[in-house]
Amino acid sequence: MFDHLLFRQLFDAASSTYTYVLGDSDSRQAVIIDTVFEQHFRDCALMEELGLKLVAALDTHCHADHVTGAWLMQRATGCRIGISGRYGDALQGADLRLDHGDRVTFGKRYLEVRATPGHTDGCVTYVTDDHRMAFTGDCLLIRGAGRCDFQQGNARTLYRSITEQIFSLPDDCLVFPGHDYSGRTMSSVGEERAHNPRIGGHADERDFVGFMENLNLPHPKQIAVAVPANLRSGKSEDAKALRPADWGPVRQSYAGLLEIDPEWVAEHLGEVHVLDVRQREELDGRLGRIANAQLIPLGDLKDRLAEVPKDKPVIAVCHAGMRSGQATVILRGAGFGRVANLRGGMLLWHQMGLPVVRGAVSEA
Ligand SMILES: [Fe+2]
Repeated sequence: MFDHLLFRQLFDAASSTYTYVLGDSDSRQAVIIDTVFEQHFRDCALMEELGLKLVAALDTHCHADHVTGAWLMQRATGCRIGISGRYGDALQGADLRLDHGDRVTFGKRYLEVRATPGHTDGCVTYVTDDHRMAFTGDCLLIRGAGRCDFQQGNARTLYRSITEQIFSLPDDCLVFPGHDYSGRTMSSVGEERAHNPRIGGHADERDFVGFMENLNLPHPKQIAVAVPANLRSGKSEDAKALRPADWGPVRQSYAGLLEIDPEWVAEHLGEVHVLDVRQREELDGRLGRIANAQLIPLGDLKDRLAEVPKDKPVIAVCHAGMRSGQATVILRGAGFGRVANLRGGMLLWHQMGLPVVRGAVSEA
């Protein structure tokens, strides 16, 4: 199915939003569709770990239920920001003003832009060059369709968008929506044509419009915050990028762990508290240990949390960085706000020739 295509589907539980990463597996160029502001570090970490170079952060539309992470992505990667040009000057910050028929290229692959208004004026569906995957945003949902009762919603327009632009794709083209609230991850054009209760089967325009005009949905909770922020492409009001920590160059891995590089720790040893969670017998080995490190084996950490000072950021360290990763989880769970795992553990520290002490451990 994925010919030279690297594909990941991600989920934001707070807004039930799907984010998609599509990469050309040869050139490693990639695009991200509908990245969520609060998931920025997760999405960045995934691309970094997969060795992808982001060329564009695309939105399917100006969302009302979450803030886009497009601006953060541009800050982090230098990628372009793509969204429909039909929002006009009201929407700031996008440098790819897309319209029907445009292509967004990543490596040897591209996405075709299809205008699918109805939920909003500027809704687009991104379709892979081989017509095997369609990213429909809030136009066509799995067994549903995007609401048309706010922004510039129009059920008649939506009917035409779905029937003409999405149902014209091959039956086996997979449908990846912008949201799902019931745990469904994908569908196909044929499946939705047959079973979508709003627009599938023999539903005509009148049936669809009648259905959509009587949904009686509550107003989206986030709309007052999300729409103005999305009209700035997700630029934060103080124009500051998010950082995982304010005390040092901490990174969040895709596994969700906070990590810091050994070089930085070596240069700032006076400003941090190093917590070594290896077993006692490991401490005198070839790798040595970091000067002034506090020694509490991981298995004892939960019972000895009171011994860990809170006045400095805590850097957890172990042999290879696995156990200390778990130590950071325990510490954060116990309310330690400034914590990071030493990337690569003592193995990498040693490999980089950073200073260690050796000899008997004096601490009782
Ligand atoms: Fe939406």
